[in-house]
Amino acid sequence: MVRTFPTLRLRRLRKTDTLRRFVRETELSVGDFIYPIFVTPGHDQRRDVESMPGIAQVSLDLAVREAEDAASLGIPAIVLFGIPEKKDEVGSEAYAWDGVIQKAIRLIKKELPELLVITDVCLCEYTSHGHCGIIVDGYVDNDKSLELLSRTALTHAEAGADMVAPSNMMDGCVAAIRRTLDEEGFQLTPIMSYAAKYASCFYGPFREAAQSAPSFGDRRSYQMDPPNVREALLEMKLDLEEGADIVMVKPALAYLDVIARAREAFDCPIAAYNVSGEYAMVKAAGRNGWLDEKRATLEILTSIKRAGAGAILSYHAKEVARWLREQQQGG
Ligand code: PBG
Repeated sequence: MVRTFPTLRLRRLRKTDTLRRFVRETELSVGDFIYPIFVTPGHDQRRDVESMPGIAQVSLDLAVREAEDAASLGIPAIVLFGIPEKKDEVGSEAYAWDGVIQKAIRLIKKELPELLVITDVCLCEYTSHGHCGIIVDGYVDNDKSLELLSRTALTHAEAGADMVAPSNMMDGCVAAIRRTLDEEGFQLTPIMSYAAKYASCFYGPFREAAQSAPSFGDRRSYQMDPPNVREALLEMKLDLEEGADIVMVKPALAYLDVIARAREAFDCPIAAYNVSGEYAMVKAAGRNGWLDEKRATLEILTSIKRAGAGAILSYHAKEVARWLREQQQGG
């Protein structure tokens, strides 16, 4: 059989919307998304993040409303980031029983037991120097940081978190957290590891949102060097061996090749973080009328799924959920 032109015409299956839908290989669904929420202490306070239109830091009570909103749109999961009352050298509020995240978890799980509450396990939002671990002689000390990071994950699990997501990029962190959780009876709390997290400029707006920019230096001595992909696969392999249940690639858009390679290399679920800078770019271009914002958003998110991500952390999650719902209703 000659499978070539003119017998074969690929345009045949592109002729109508129905045909295109019929042969579509990748489709976004609301169930793919994890919505990030920035939580501050206090009551009835909302501070918009200037570089991320539509995203705000919200006080505990409003975080519950945000979570409710996400759940009512059908979004299965949220990820929580905390902005503490006070920061110090050792990030004490990250692992305090009554820290802002621990409180948020309890409030949200009480109201919305079905919603998956995932927590970011890192110290950068809680340390006065803004680094993701403990500083010894001007350098982020790996092994000393592990103890505090494990304690952080444990307090999240104790408060009721459904999953913990270490994003600090310390070596051995997944093993340390897994051991601590298991010892304390949380054998069934999964770990979603930010395994391949690059030292990226695309976190810029997040650092405004979480007030977590480092006060000296940068994160290149622990986050990955952007040109490397084999090293990313090694990071993921190690995290899986240490007990990670889901591995993440972050950022997503500039690292689609990493997602695709990970999808081929491993049989576990792969997540991708469509980060703050990716969100900010689309919003800025949309606001200027330079891009069709909705189409750009959906095209980017579809590319992340097509590359192989089964779960997508995205600030777009709520608007996408609304668009998908409208589409379903034929709107
Ligand atoms: C670290 C953390 C960061 C993000 C998620 N967790 C920032 C960083 O490493 O500086 C970035 C997320 C985003 O840009 O949307 N706790």
